[in-house]
Amino acid sequence: MSIKRLLCISPAGAGAVQSACGKLRGWDLCIVSSIADASRALLQQRYLVGMVLDRGGGHDTEALCAFLRIHWHTRWVGVFESGTMQQPAWRDLASDHLHDFHTLPVSHLLLNHTLGHAHGLADLRERAAPALRFDSSRALTGESPSVVRLRAQIRRIASVSAPVLIWGESGSGKEVTAHEIHSHSPMSDGPFVAINCGAMPASLIQTELFGHERGAFTGAAKEKVGLIESANGGTIFLDEIADLPKDLQVNLLRFLQEKTIYRVGGTRSIPVDARVIAASHIDLQDAVERGSFREDLYYRLSVIPVSVPPLRERADDLMQLAEHFFSQYCDEKSPQLKGFSNRALQAIRSHDWPGNVRELINRVRRAMVLAEGELITPEDLGLNHIGLGPVSGGLDTSRASAERNIICACLERTGRNISKTARELGVSRATLYRLLSKHSIGVRAAG
Ligand SMILES: Nc1ncnc2c1ncn2[C@@H]1O[C@H](COP(=O)(O)OP(=O)(O)O)[C@@H](O)[C@H]1O
Ligand SMILES: [Mg+2]
Repeated sequence: MSIKRLLCISPAGAGAVQSACGKLRGWDLCIVSSIADASRALLQQRYLVGMVLDRGGGHDTEALCAFLRIHWHTRWVGVFESGTMQQPAWRDLASDHLHDFHTLPVSHLLLNHTLGHAHGLADLRERAAPALRFDSSRALTGESPSVVRLRAQIRRIASVSAPVLIWGESGSGKEVTAHEIHSHSPMSDGPFVAINCGAMPASLIQTELFGHERGAFTGAAKEKVGLIESANGGTIFLDEIADLPKDLQVNLLRFLQEKTIYRVGGTRSIPVDARVIAASHIDLQDAVERGSFREDLYYRLSVIPVSVPPLRERADDLMQLAEHFFSQYCDEKSPQLKGFSNRALQAIRSHDWPGNVRELINRVRRAMVLAEGELITPEDLGLNHIGLGPVSGGLDTSRASAERNIICACLERTGRNISKTARELGVSRATLYRLLSKHSIGVRAAG
């Protein structure tokens, strides 16, 4: 049994906690008097349960709401003076952010029960989807062997200035990888200029990349510095390099060989000291064989080849990435939403992720907006088809399995509340208990 830690925010100090709540038996208590101290405490230690004590005022409800919104991982219980809930700001705070609340004078027995219940639920959720060790400094999230290898490779190649060619499926993290190389390189204080060669109209790409001199063509009233020139002292990232028109491939080759460029309409060569990182989701060697990509440019660019693995090959990272994006976009979610249900995690593990990390981000964000309950379901993720594989065991087994799945889904959606689940399924509580026992589904006493 792990230690049960309770973080208590009480502007009126520790004495107020003691007199209002009595002895909180079995809890390792940390009492702070301000939100700033609570934030510091949460950075140092993980608390599954927190308590907000409002006795004699002293809380800024707006700041408190903002704080609770960020720290949704913790289940919060309120202990308020009897008049507190008359105030609309506190009512909103309680309904949006609190697991439960008690008004003074509180029954110590009931308060201990509420805190214990909050801890039990938070612990269940934590087991289903362990929270991230928060490390915002790491852009390339993941601990799977291939990502660990990729990170080591990035560190090795960051210090040299040779061109890098990154290959990987769309959405797998080529640009993140390029950015990591830049930020570990000696040029990290310089600019990182990203250009998507596929997204730029062919008619504009030359002047965008190389700039132009004043009067170079009709309408060129002023000189323009191109993107390559603007990356001087830093890194230029050429995304979807296979889409670069062939005539511009010659210009790029010249830049790689001579480290100088000519603006359109210009005659002077301009030295540019920028590292080149190119990326492609198609195999450039194939493009060379097909004749759409210059072989000499290919060899120049691919001095250091780097391959970013597709997400389906790093299944170990799925949970961590899903949690990472859930935290990243937590401002967009409803305050009640606490995380992923077990079925959602299972659906994430079973999906093939053809759109890679970008698809995962999109599905998680969409689910965070759509989710109505406390936990994200496979339906919220748009992955509800998962699990409908070939039928095995005949109709009876399939029917029983479907019945079990629906009950589990409904329990998750209602936060394992028996009354709500029974209502949603259109059965009595007694029938629901019978079904729970039939399918060996365990629930903690709630509702
Ligand atoms: N390992 C990762 N950790 C965190 N975010 C990632 C990771 N890989 C990709 N992303 C995110 O996924 C999205 C797609 O990544 P990106 O580098 O643009 O892919 P690509 O260039 O291969 O299409 C971006 O929002 C990026 O921040
Ligand atoms: Mg990209």
